[in-house]
Amino acid sequence: MLLLGIESSCDETAAAIVTEDRKILSNVIYSQISEHEAFSGVVPEVASRAHLEKIDFVVEKAFSDAGIVPADLDAVAATCGPGLIGGVIVGATFAKAVAFSLDIPFLAINHIEAHALCVRLTENVDFPYLLLLASGGHCQICLVSDFDDFEVLGKTLDDSVGESFDKVAKMMSLGYPGGPIVEKMSRNGDPMAFDFPRPLCQKKSLDFSFSGLKTAVRITLEKLEKQKKNFDDSESLDKKNHANVCASFQRAVEDVLSYKMDAAIVLCKARNIPLNAVVISGGVAANKAIRGKMQRICYGHRLRFCAPPIPLCTDNAAMIAWNGLEKLRTQPGDPLNFQPRPRWPLGKKF
Ligand code: KG4
Ligand code: ZN
Repeated sequence: MLLLGIESSCDETAAAIVTEDRKILSNVIYSQISEHEAFSGVVPEVASRAHLEKIDFVVEKAFSDAGIVPADLDAVAATCGPGLIGGVIVGATFAKAVAFSLDIPFLAINHIEAHALCVRLTENVDFPYLLLLASGGHCQICLVSDFDDFEVLGKTLDDSVGESFDKVAKMMSLGYPGGPIVEKMSRNGDPMAFDFPRPLCQKKSLDFSFSGLKTAVRITLEKLEKQKKNFDDSESLDKKNHANVCASFQRAVEDVLSYKMDAAIVLCKARNIPLNAVVISGGVAANKAIRGKMQRICYGHRLRFCAPPIPLCTDNAAMIAWNGLEKLRTQPGDPLNFQPRPRWPLGKKF
């Protein structure tokens, strides 16, 4: 069985062809970073137009890279939410047109669920597993008991973790997206240079909060800016300070995520849930230091740690196609009048 997946919920226009036996025949991603870089964040209207301009080219390339023609397809899946609605409409409508013209099933995919299931495309992971979903739009801990059964155990009360990486990078004018840049800069900095807060780590709740951490970074940068006035070589001081801020921020995030995941594992054990693995997914799961910390926690609890390969952590269409294949095992497809939506909680059908 061959599936076309389409992703267009944020700033990547992506298409992929995936087989039932987990072969990724093609995985095309057109990143809009250059269009949004000047604004240090995604501009929804710019994103929608860019999706519209690129979608034909990206889908055609997915076919040619895979060496197949549209008539070979068995079904088509597209992100129908949550996300920036203009972009979601572009991808969903394109996919519906493909499904209608070929008379094959259309599958409406929840973008967060696709991140949550992506690990099963590359690893043999059975349900149930504990998931940390850490992306630009979300930060949640969930128990994944089936392809459509998600229990949210904790979530962010304000910013997502990826968003906080992006905002911290923006404060230092380091570029966009902030996560990979902050991770790289932090390798040259001292993680103990600044004692940033670890919000909500004294509480039993599995919820997160990143806005206080972000404010602490801003206040520190303002203080450093004042100190700089008495210093001749301010450029090299900036570099050193920024590396130290990145390293200290990165360490604070690692500590918060580790604390919460450790607590979530303890909770699952107390509830006698037979976890098969602990999984991290979403753009922030590309962060090697965070992956390393999660691996150590799992080792301590004698649990298997899994994460998608780094290129499949950030937005891609292979995970959308895979989620379509998971759904197709038990259902025929979604109606062509399925409404794309900007908000769509995990596990909710409509
Ligand atoms: O999953 P994703 O591609 O898009 C959403 O669904 O939101 O996640 C994008 C987010 C951005 O905030 C980006 O800064 C962050 O993932 N990110 C990282 C890294 N790579 C991407 N954060 C920390 N370290 C990274 N290496
Ligand atoms: Zn995503």
